[in-house]
Amino acid sequence: MKRADELRAQLAALNYRYYVLDDPLVPDAEYDRLMQELVALEAKHPEIVTPDSPTQRVSGAAAPQFRAVQHRVPMLSLRNAFFVDEVADFDRRVRERLQAVADIDYMAEPKLDGLAVTLSYEKGRLVRAATRGDGATGEDVTANVRTIRSVPLVLEGRAPPLFEARGEVFMPLAGFRRMNEVAREHGEKLFVNPRNAAAGALRQLDVRITAQRPLEVFFYGVGAVAGAKLPERHSELLALLRKLGLRTSGEAHLVHGLAGCLKYYAALAARRTKLPYQIDGVVYKVDRRDDQELLGFVSREPRWALAHKFPAEEEVTQLQSVDFQVGRTGALTPVARLKPVFVGGATVSNVTLHNMDEIERNDIRIGDTVVVRRAGDVIPEVVRVLIERRPVDAKPVLLPAHCPVCNSPVLRVAGEAAARCTGGFSCRAQRQEALAHFASRRTLDIEGLGDKLIEQLVERELVTTPADFYSLTADKLSGLERMGERSAAKLVQALARSKSTTLPRFLFALGIRDVGEATALSLARHFGSLEKLMSADAAAIEEVPDVGPIVAEHVAAFLASNTHRSVIARLRKQGVHWSDMQSAPAAGARLAGMSFVVTGTLVSMTREAAQERLRALGAKVSSSVSAKTSYLVHGAEPGSKLAKATQLGVHLLDEQAFLDLLKS
Ligand code: IVH
Repeated sequence: MKRADELRAQLAALNYRYYVLDDPLVPDAEYDRLMQELVALEAKHPEIVTPDSPTQRVSGAAAPQFRAVQHRVPMLSLRNAFFVDEVADFDRRVRERLQAVADIDYMAEPKLDGLAVTLSYEKGRLVRAATRGDGATGEDVTANVRTIRSVPLVLEGRAPPLFEARGEVFMPLAGFRRMNEVAREHGEKLFVNPRNAAAGALRQLDVRITAQRPLEVFFYGVGAVAGAKLPERHSELLALLRKLGLRTSGEAHLVHGLAGCLKYYAALAARRTKLPYQIDGVVYKVDRRDDQELLGFVSREPRWALAHKFPAEEEVTQLQSVDFQVGRTGALTPVARLKPVFVGGATVSNVTLHNMDEIERNDIRIGDTVVVRRAGDVIPEVVRVLIERRPVDAKPVLLPAHCPVCNSPVLRVAGEAAARCTGGFSCRAQRQEALAHFASRRTLDIEGLGDKLIEQLVERELVTTPADFYSLTADKLSGLERMGERSAAKLVQALARSKSTTLPRFLFALGIRDVGEATALSLARHFGSLEKLMSADAAAIEEVPDVGPIVAEHVAAFLASNTHRSVIARLRKQGVHWSDMQSAPAAGARLAGMSFVVTGTLVSMTREAAQERLRALGAKVSSSVSAKTSYLVHGAEPGSKLAKATQLGVHLLDEQAFLDLLKS
């Protein structure tokens, strides 16, 4: 059958890359899929099975450099399950075969992502270590394994004449990252993942290199054993391994029935990214060893064990196109549109490619097959391109000469990663982002003015500059989508409240390139007032601590622009105001030495703004009332703080009294 032949050839090629070169071509998920397709095909048409089909052996040929070792007891592999119903089937089959009435005890263990090894101890001494190879014959890696510090060369206590311990050699994540860092510095090839790094390290002909690699081992079973009676349960076997000085995973737990298995799976999946090593699933093993024997195995997979895999964190998909998004400062961000792919437990169809340098560094082209990674809650990313699968008509990603939103020229400045739209505020995308920034929590904090609403306002041309926000009325607002009368009224209130702000917030809100919160604060402190800052030139601005020539230039140019000046003037006319900064520190300030608590809802400004105003005047602002509190400022619905302050005899200020205090 043609498809089966194709799959065999493909799998053989992938196997070679994976096992012999330790340099896999595709993510495991893709390999698993091809293998499963072949298994299914062969199951349906047994007559097409060939003796050398990759399904007929546990993958891996003994590399010629290493001496072959015949395993006394074959090294089995595990059946994989990806879905809960497959685990339920497994549990049901186990119970049926054992004619069990009660829940089965399972030992649940992490499925370590490394390399299976078997270690033969004769009279307690390590005499041989071998890889799994094809399950019947492995490679002699004794010299390499001896370099792993967590492998005892001599067993503890009274050891039987022959004891074969089986486990997984792996590389902890920290060691893997360090190793790749060094490799990068030396311009050497990087390892794709810790498992391949571990495999590469273990199969080094020069064991001095192995010795330098941070390999570790966990044991999870036994092979041939002579002269000792083994315990009745797998859980006790793990305890015996530990007693002999053989390290086992601390994550292994005895669980009961299907529910116990699934609970363990969920708990470990949640902690997966916090573990210091990589695991790709969990393994359930029937705990009673006599039951294991009764169950036996089929085609080299025990019926008493199951690997329940986590969703793959890497997948392959096709990059269909690249769009450019325009941000607040005009930076163009390339975004890859992917053929939707399920990875790390979610469907991913867009990923950021960051900037043109990144695209060029990774040689990403449209039409490419790419590996997408999504681990935990980390933002998905394209990790590499499968050059081998590049179609002949793959197109390079070109930076557009004109902004995709406003058509202004795009500029790529040498030495800067980002390419920028030069349209400034005339670009709708930049305007939208700038408006959102102006309204956001850390700036004017206009509650209820989110991205979606701003999009509508911009689209309907109700708002083009931040000053337009303050011409919005409940009437104009209530015509918008998802905007009822109540929310419109609330937004108008929030707008009114936002008018009272602080100078650093206002400066940050303007969205001057490279002026973040910290720089805004430095500028405000240094100049004290907007007037002084606006009449300063770049040279004077450069005097501000932490402000360099480029930022100074941006600030000066921004404030010199007539467009920006008129927006600022309009904002002021509409009542946006702030108190100037006291350039002297708290000691000389009017409220120095006094302690304030602000509670409840204020009408004229947000609580945060009130606190900042107080701090600007040198007051200490605290979140809880105590005998040391000088004043409690209370708005509507003050809650328990007012009661407590009254009880302690703290001075009370209502909103009007507070405003008077600020003014005086
Ligand atoms: S038991 C009789 N337990 O998974 C079953 N294997 O897919 C033999 N592995 O070759 C394996 N963690 O390399 C077992 N806790 C664990 C494991 C584990 C990782 C690997 C091992 C094995 C492969 C099978």
